[in-house]
Amino acid sequence: MITEFMLQNLPDSDQRLEAMFQAFDDLMFILDRYGKILDYRAGDPSQLYVSPEKFMHRKMQDIMPPAVGRKIDDALLELHKGSPVSQIEYVLPLPTGERWFEARLVPFTNHQRVMFVRDITRYKRSELQTRRQLDQLAALRSIDLAISSGLDLHLMMSVILDHVHAQLNIDAACILLLDPKSQLLQYAAGRGFYTSALQYTRLRAGEGYAGQAVQHRKMLHISNLKNRQTDFLRSPFFSKENFMSYYAVPLIAKGQALGVMEIFQRTSPKADSDWLNFLDTLAGQAAIAIDNAILFKDLQWSNTELMQAYDKTIDGWSRALDLRDRETETHTRRVTELTLRLARHMEIPEADLIHIRRGAILHDIGKVAISDTILLKPGPLSESEWEIMRQHPLIAVELLTPIAYLAPALPIPHSHHERWEGRGYPDGLSGESIPLAARMFALADVYDALTTNRPYRRAWSQADTLDFIRAQAGKHFDPNIVPVFINMVLEEGDAGTSLTPLLKDPPKE
Ligand code: C2E
Ligand code: SIN
Ligand code: SIN
Ligand code: FE
Ligand code: FE
Repeated sequence: MITEFMLQNLPDSDQRLEAMFQAFDDLMFILDRYGKILDYRAGDPSQLYVSPEKFMHRKMQDIMPPAVGRKIDDALLELHKGSPVSQIEYVLPLPTGERWFEARLVPFTNHQRVMFVRDITRYKRSELQTRRQLDQLAALRSIDLAISSGLDLHLMMSVILDHVHAQLNIDAACILLLDPKSQLLQYAAGRGFYTSALQYTRLRAGEGYAGQAVQHRKMLHISNLKNRQTDFLRSPFFSKENFMSYYAVPLIAKGQALGVMEIFQRTSPKADSDWLNFLDTLAGQAAIAIDNAILFKDLQWSNTELMQAYDKTIDGWSRALDLRDRETETHTRRVTELTLRLARHMEIPEADLIHIRRGAILHDIGKVAISDTILLKPGPLSESEWEIMRQHPLIAVELLTPIAYLAPALPIPHSHHERWEGRGYPDGLSGESIPLAARMFALADVYDALTTNRPYRRAWSQADTLDFIRAQAGKHFDPNIVPVFINMVLEEGDAGTSLTPLLKDPPKE
């Protein structure tokens, strides 16, 4: 026998080989050029899944599955062409499960090849697991990103189900949300369904598998749905989905059940602990995401409420101020309307108008700190009285600065007494360094002040007032805004449609 020949002629090297096999657990086969097995060595004989009688003197390719056989053919061909070594990797479905092997083939003599086989299942598993863990990490990161970007609830659930579908390698999944008012579980989003079978789901807590998962706050698994379809009578189309395996995972955030994630498979899957762990993690993320999205929606809602409360408050402040002087009672309303109309003619972005409105309403709020003796004085102010009066824009800034949502409205209260040529107050700004909103507002304010009675003088006519404003273009007022304002007043009048004009002279058409 060739093996005996080999053993006799190479005793030293053979002993060394034996020793090596004891150390490395490798399998070694001696093949002829065509793959016939001439001999073997097994460091660990339990690695031989077939008894030697069954493989000795047969072609290696014939005892392997065809796909592996082809790889061995290729490797032998490579050696035949002169390669010093050729290496292949293959999987064998063994009774103990799939195992990966790595085989290296080297020429031994002209007519023989040695094939070293090593079981690499352990490395392969850890490699696959590492890759899977990296994929899982990437999935969790993108869910985190979706959560922190404040996506709306439906987009968020969509992102999560995409990852559930891809990472857990399942057929279909859906999320049922627990409606806090009705306490019903309702379908909110899904992936992978053939039919709309589950979209009309409405379950009470405790009702059905999903309801039980929520009630007991525990994952529920049914391995063969086909034996138990009564539960899914919630849909007559359910049998069309042909589902086999089912999981219901409660979605719990901050101790509160928000809903259920349902997982469906059309075959019986192998769910190892890794798979179950990741399902649990994804469900946890889903719960956080849903909780966040709901919170965000609530926050936006309560923000709107808060805004409305604030707006009512500032309206109240300005009305209180107006009431101190019966003659200027509707001054604030009129200048606010006029300024907003002017802003529209100036094509100010719609989003800025709310701030301009608030600013106009609050423009003279600083006058709350000015005593009646000065504010309601029937004649001209003394120098020291003027000094106090000129404080009113800065008093407004002081009053309003603590209210964050009024920050974009501050330019009008702060700067409505600045003058285009400078020498206004409180900062003596000039030209375009005066905020645009304040420049627009100044026109409306002076126009309305002059056309109404003041404790210190009678109202002017509209014609006189417009003459005065025209003359002040480039002095008190922005010369680019004056013509827009004058045309607007002449063409459309000086009152909002909702206001009764309080003019001494009717507008000239
Ligand atoms: P206000 O009555 O709301 O007037 C707003 C602005 O309209 C004034 O800012 C001024 O630019 C213009 N304006 C009002 N009335 C006249 C006027 O008769 N002639 C001219 N050329 N412009 C007028 P201003 O001057 O900074 O005044 C701020 C505030 O000081 C006034 O608000 C008013 O409350 C008070 N004030 C101004 N002058 C007098 C006054 O002579 N006597 C009294 N008691 N208060 C005055
Ligand atoms: C402010 O800080 O008071 C607003 C900016 C301005 O009025 O110029
Ligand atoms: C604002 O100050 O509220 C906006 C006005 C502008 O466009 O400057
Ligand atoms: Fe003022
Ligand atoms: Fe005013």
